[in-house]
Amino acid sequence: MANLGIGIIGCGNISTSYLRLAPLFKGLEVRAVADMNMDAARARAEEFSTRAQSVDDLLANPDVDVVINLTIPDAHYGVTKRILEAGKHAYSEKPLVLTLEEGVILRDLAKAKGLAVGCAPDTFLGGAHQQARAILDEGRIGQITAGCAAVLNHGMEHWHPNPDFFFLPGAGPMLDLGPYYVANLINLLGPVRKVGALTSSAQAFRTISNGPRNGETVPVKTPTNIHALLEFHNGATINLSTSWDVWHHKRNHFELYGTEGTLYVPDPNFFGGTVEVADRDGTLTTVDLWDHPFGKPNQEHPKQGALANYRTAGLADMVTALVEGREARCSLDRTLHGVEVMTACLKSGETGEFVTLTTTCTRPAALSPDQARALLV
Ligand SMILES: NC(=O)c1ccc[n+]([C@@H]2O[C@H](COP(=O)([O-])OP(=O)(O)OC[C@H]3O[C@@H](n4cnc5c(N)ncnc54)[C@H](O)[C@@H]3O)[C@@H](O)[C@H]2O)c1
Repeated sequence: MANLGIGIIGCGNISTSYLRLAPLFKGLEVRAVADMNMDAARARAEEFSTRAQSVDDLLANPDVDVVINLTIPDAHYGVTKRILEAGKHAYSEKPLVLTLEEGVILRDLAKAKGLAVGCAPDTFLGGAHQQARAILDEGRIGQITAGCAAVLNHGMEHWHPNPDFFFLPGAGPMLDLGPYYVANLINLLGPVRKVGALTSSAQAFRTISNGPRNGETVPVKTPTNIHALLEFHNGATINLSTSWDVWHHKRNHFELYGTEGTLYVPDPNFFGGTVEVADRDGTLTTVDLWDHPFGKPNQEHPKQGALANYRTAGLADMVTALVEGREARCSLDRTLHGVEVMTACLKSGETGEFVTLTTTCTRPAALSPDQARALLV
């Protein structure tokens, strides 16, 4: 398979993961990086032996076929639109867009130009999550009737030196961390029919407690405490909670209740983790992890130890899908549906009414160990 030329716009924090991990995958060759801050682009280019260009020059570069959008959430829509207008395929970090309307414009533009748009998160392609998917698909826990997913912590101002944007519309725990949970729910259960939510914020201001702005307060303009109910087309009802107002809790990240048992899925923010199954008699079994390449630890995390991190797998799958003429797993339709799920939860919090979704999608194809191996060099 010939390599596609990859360009990156946005040379901040997460760009190092993409630049470090892209060489693991077939068909990807990073050919240029750009940023509105040329110094940031030059620094990354030097670090990873690639070329720094202005955003305009990268978009006009004939050696670049696919552009990864690693800018900040507020810029995602505008930058992805420019990528498509330049005639290139796009792959964005989450969230794809901040409103359904923006996503529909991108979908129509991509369709008119015959271009692909993909979007992170791709953590649901991780070994542990694909094993959970395989257990579900084998019917071991029967038909899923209910479940809960929760990401609860005390926020970003304790570690992030400039946390302002996390507390503004377009972010908050739903749009910042919800994408990992919603993408995995779609992977496991398919599309959502209807949502309702209660939302609030524990504090009107948050105090930065690190870095040069230590002690400064930032306003909270979006809910930081969201408890949603999701009704899936397959009949399952899921409680999804995302909050930055919680100091400690004992809830699991993800539990699915089936007619034959319970499935415990690890944190969807990561590729690996422990999968557990309980049968009808209540016996809890830790599943022996299968030999899936995207579950193997390849990174040492300062707090969590050995971690599996295969970020870029979704892009590699999209590039292979383009060559093979099949649908990408991290597709525009699924991501757009996910955006509608999350924004509808926020809307329901404002109106107090359930929201029936206007978009739908299919479940992505499962990614078996052999299919995952085929994506690697
Ligand atoms: N940092 C993480 O651990 C992490 C993890 C998962 C996902 N993400 C997502 O990745 C994206 C980037 O996050 P980050 O932490 O790297 O942010 P960052 O602030 O460190 O970097 C963003 C970069 O984009 C550039 N930029 C902003 N607007 C631009 C524009 N219009 N044109 C060109 N360049 C522009 C900025 O100059 C900056 O260098 C976000 O959407 C975030 O949600 C980040």
